[in-house]
Amino acid sequence: MTSKGLEGVVAAETTLSKVFGEEGRLVYAGYEIEDLAANASFEEVCWLLWNGELPTTEQLEQLSAELSAAASIDDRIIDILRLAPADTHPMATLRTAASALGFYDPEAEDMSDAANRRKAVRITARIPTITAAIDRVRKGLEPIEPDPSLRLGGNFLYMLTGQAPDGLGARIVDAALTLHAEHGLNASTFAARVTAATLADMHSAVTSAIGALKGPLHGGANERVMEMLQKIGSADQAEQWITAALERKEKIMGFGHRVYRTTDPRAPILRDLSGRLGSGADETPWLDISEKVVEVMRREMDARGKKIYPNVDFFSASVYYTIGIPTDLFTNVFAMARAAGWTAHVIEQLADNRLIRPKAEYKGPLGKKVVPIADRG
Ligand code: SDX
Repeated sequence: MTSKGLEGVVAAETTLSKVFGEEGRLVYAGYEIEDLAANASFEEVCWLLWNGELPTTEQLEQLSAELSAAASIDDRIIDILRLAPADTHPMATLRTAASALGFYDPEAEDMSDAANRRKAVRITARIPTITAAIDRVRKGLEPIEPDPSLRLGGNFLYMLTGQAPDGLGARIVDAALTLHAEHGLNASTFAARVTAATLADMHSAVTSAIGALKGPLHGGANERVMEMLQKIGSADQAEQWITAALERKEKIMGFGHRVYRTTDPRAPILRDLSGRLGSGADETPWLDISEKVVEVMRREMDARGKKIYPNVDFFSASVYYTIGIPTDLFTNVFAMARAAGWTAHVIEQLADNRLIRPKAEYKGPLGKKVVPIADRG
């Protein structure tokens, strides 16, 4: 029995997260996502995913020091970024640069658990630096070296703008990274596990994942949500825009999910973060448009009997835009966070590995004979 898109297929056991699709709950290794977003840093969540428990003070200090030490990237990676045409999509540039990290990682071909754990830290530390450098290089600016005194999320904002991030901006990016860190066998994580299960290396697995995340049905949705909000332009235009798009049978980016049959629990947290970035309609125009889109979609989907609700990508768009992150970097920010989940899943896969190789149901012809090409019509 073929399940299109592997819908409903349980392809692995994991202790990393549980997505409660009917209830709209998300748990990372025992902790509710709301609790983690409010009370743990992204670095603590990285430790949780890599080690199965939140860190002690000493363990967090150790991890933070390792992430800071690894945050700089080899100048030859910057040279590779300079080879990309200025209009290259940043996820395409990241896909290439993340792969190239393997050139200069002395443990690239070492698939031992210890080496993979060290590479998980290095890759997670470097994706923010690469992403900020992509933006600087394409603007003809020199990349900014990471500031070892800043945590990963705030350091990204600093490397992007050259300005020390304000406390609220850094706190909000940190919470957004936590919300995007892990989500079971989503398409990009599954791509990472399939790659790792062949005993290919960690950089190959992460490169596979970046390729999968780029797609608009997955991580690429947040960029398209922002483009949609900008096309809508104001809250009073949302009704007409959304209903016309649905009439054209278009999918509304940032809505729907393969597993959630109710609102994605990450969406209201991101909605509140977006609200904290400004007060009053004049400062949160994107949030006001977003709220109206949600209202119209709720009515339209209820009328169609469809359980289509906002997902993680919907409100992350207004959060990232309001913080000043360029729209076409939104999916790179998603990758910055999900690197923790991808690498944790690779480590988990290899702890009890079996090649991942489903079957396909053949629907083509049989019994055909080769005709000489001169006689083929
Ligand atoms: C992420 O898997 C994960 O965990 C992913 C993620 C993570 O943390 O890793 O949560 C992150 O990728 C979130 C999803 C981001 N993508 C989008 O926002 C793109 C828009 N969403 C859709 O493309 C869609 O909802 C998917 C891809 C997310 C899920 O699609 P499914 O499960 O394959 O469902 P489907 O496309 O078969 O749709 C079922 C029905 C269809 O209608 P009918 O043909 O049955 O009449 O629902 C409709 C669809 O047209 N539908 C939508 C819709 N999503 C589904 N209609 C309008 N707008 C939408 N967004």
